[in-house]
Amino acid sequence: MTEVKPIISMQGITKHFGGVTALEDVDFDILPDEVHALVGDNGAGKSTLIKILCGVHMADAGKILVDGSPVHITGPRDARNYGIEVIYQDLALVDEFNVVANVYLGKELTSSIGEQNTSILDERRMREGTKSVLERVKMFIPDIRQRVYYLSGGQRQGVAIGRAVNATQKIRVLIMDEPTAALGVEEKEKVLNLIRTLIEQHVAIVVISHNLEDVFQVADRVTVLRNGRRVTTVPASQVSRQDVVGYIVGAEAGASSEKA
Ligand SMILES: Nc1ncnc2c1ncn2[C@@H]1O[C@H](COP(=O)(O)OP(=O)(O)O)[C@@H](O)[C@H]1O
Ligand SMILES: [Mg+2]
Repeated sequence: MTEVKPIISMQGITKHFGGVTALEDVDFDILPDEVHALVGDNGAGKSTLIKILCGVHMADAGKILVDGSPVHITGPRDARNYGIEVIYQDLALVDEFNVVANVYLGKELTSSIGEQNTSILDERRMREGTKSVLERVKMFIPDIRQRVYYLSGGQRQGVAIGRAVNATQKIRVLIMDEPTAALGVEEKEKVLNLIRTLIEQHVAIVVISHNLEDVFQVADRVTVLRNGRRVTTVPASQVSRQDVVGYIVGAEAGASSEKA
């Protein structure tokens, strides 16, 4: 079997916040075409690990390799240049804006008109861009001029993904923080389908989730963090939910299935 080379390899990542050790010597790889679930209890270090990858925090120790070469990610722009995008739990959508404005938030398209070369928003191009990006992620939104406020949870997730896909020249890794939290069954299914669609398009996905039910529907591998340390990284097909719960809470395998 030929070895699959990771797109991203985080090695020996350590991070302290004052006296708190958020991460201790954590290794985390992202392989091409995989859905990699990152799970662990509150405070386990999931968000911190992702924030280091995305340039929000700097690690105290450890390194990050992209396609095997060491890189310095010192801000979100660096991460974006490597094709890494993150969707935070709150999605950061502007409820009062319509779908188009949200997809192009912060990177509006303009064109110049008249003799003064006045710069105006190019609404038409942004509408077309929005339609094509939503088509790409197979998210159907009947009226893209509708305010995001009125959309369902799954559609909102679709808009956030549309924006992430639109933000980079070529998205390679999409990280989603709790994408199915607070969604109904049908809406969850929509989000899981979005993930499957992105995988077909060779975007690797990292899903942070508390919901092992959802994770197991899409994950190829699972990494468990506990108290800032990596407990294990395993193929999802080789563990049961119960095993994972055991890793999360630190009980012996097969112990209590209780999970906060
Ligand atoms: N900006 C911060 N300042 C201080 N402590 C933090 C900060 N961010 C996270 N922590 C601490 O680091 C640990 C890991 O947190 P976090 O990565 O948010 O965990 P998770 O996302 O798994 O719930 C926790 O103890 C948390 O309180
Ligand atoms: Mg978190």
